[in-house]
Amino acid sequence: MKTFKIAILVGSLRKESFNKKIAKALIELAPENLSLEIIEIGNLALYNEDLEQELPIEWQQFRTAIKAVDGVLFVTPEYNRSVPAVLKNAVDVGSRPYGKNNWDGKPGAIISVTPGLLGAFGANHHLRQALVFVNVPVMAQPEAYISQVGNLLDENGKLTSDSTRDFLVKFLNAYAVWVERNAG
Ligand code: FNR
Repeated sequence: MKTFKIAILVGSLRKESFNKKIAKALIELAPENLSLEIIEIGNLALYNEDLEQELPIEWQQFRTAIKAVDGVLFVTPEYNRSVPAVLKNAVDVGSRPYGKNNWDGKPGAIISVTPGLLGAFGANHHLRQALVFVNVPVMAQPEAYISQVGNLLDENGKLTSDSTRDFLVKFLNAYAVWVERNAG
């Protein structure tokens, strides 16, 4: 059985980020044929096309890392009903230089996470819009909007909700099928 390498991109830099905690739970819940790893995005300079002439080492490393994976899983909060700038920046950095889009064809999926009630729907769907342009086939179903996340984790950041754990396992199994169908 082939194991697929999947990058997890987390749209929050906060030390105690709920999204990071969910990302870590996903690593533990992943099926055998998915190997999940968080790729850091907080060290990427803000996108500036001038920098293509004097490439920051972090951009190079990030592009190489994205190029090397079979798929990309986004776990993101919502900022003002949209995608946090740090995550959009990572999408932009990965999409260049012109003609060398590192996201091209990598099967993707999105989980949006919020302590609020609306599942960070706005971030989830704004991210889909950008991913269409960089040619990431994003899994349509199941959709994943995790609301009231503060009630789903204990003080060590571990999932306490059986129904959320079951849902995430179902989501990851569907994503594994999506990756098998669309990778490479
Ligand atoms: C937020 N938050 C938020 N939540 C939400 O559900 N919809 C929103 O539009 C916003 N907008 C927003 C803007 C800004 C600038 C901040 C800092 C926060 C609240 C957000 O969901 C909350 O801070 C989460 O805890 C962020 O995710 P992490 O850092 O816990 O992963």
